[in-house]
Amino acid sequence: MESEEAEKELYICGAGGFGREVFWHIQAIRSARAHSPWVVKGFFDDSYPTENSLMGLPVLGKITPADIGEKRRYLCVAIGDSKVKKEVVERLSAHNYCFPSLIHPSITGSDEFEKRSGVFILQGAVLTADVFLDDFVTVHANCFIGHESKIEKYSSLMPSVTVCGEARLHREVFVGAGATIINRVSIGEGSRVGAGSVVVNDIPSETTVMGVPAREKQETRIS
Ligand SMILES: CC(C)(COP(=O)(O)OP(=O)(O)OC[C@H]1O[C@@H](n2cnc3c(N)ncnc32)[C@H](O)[C@@H]1OP(=O)(O)O)[C@@H](O)C(=O)NCCC(=O)NCCS
Repeated sequence: MESEEAEKELYICGAGGFGREVFWHIQAIRSARAHSPWVVKGFFDDSYPTENSLMGLPVLGKITPADIGEKRRYLCVAIGDSKVKKEVVERLSAHNYCFPSLIHPSITGSDEFEKRSGVFILQGAVLTADVFLDDFVTVHANCFIGHESKIEKYSSLMPSVTVCGEARLHREVFVGAGATIINRVSIGEGSRVGAGSVVVNDIPSETTVMGVPAREKQETRIS
């Protein structure tokens, strides 16, 4: 039987499109699990004070320790872009905040992923045997991650990404919606994969690839 946990106040850092989706994700967890402790009390966003409310909740300030304060303990960083996500986490990391992992209860092995910090796994994702996710990895709705794949810190997989077995995504990789990474491929740190692409070869670091098969976009030269 599920044990009842005391309510915990959570603040979402990022009041853009992904911030809305993370709010929806937290509601989905509450609908599926009667005793989820998380209750969202507001957002923080660098667009404050221009933006000051979202989905019926207040935007309380910028994403800075000065605005968030010391009394608010639980934060989640709802930013899809892997590099911006890293920058925001580092901005907050010298302070005593906690970044819970928010895993939809339908995910097999959710207990293991919940031990990490700042991981999101949305509804419909399937992670099979011996998948490793590091802190602050986002696995959006309906992704598939095959056996022994390793996804490193801050990487983000957008909806319906397929990662076949034994793939390795280094830190801060961003994979656009619906892309497929075939087995044993390695994607270097900070690289981006366009939506709908099929990655069949290793990708070096800091590279953007797109298309089927995925290739680096070449600049057009005017002679
Ligand atoms: C790959 C990506 C990151 C590149 O972004 P960018 O650097 O801003 O690139 P641009 O939009 O300036 O496009 C550059 C060129 O690549 C092409 N392109 C962009 N994305 C592409 C894709 N996924 N597949 C094929 N070609 C693509 C553009 O048509 C453009 O071509 P052109 O120079 O001939 O006009 C981005 O296009 C993408 O796919 N993002 C994923 C979005 C997503 O999944 N969001 C999830 C929301 S839930």
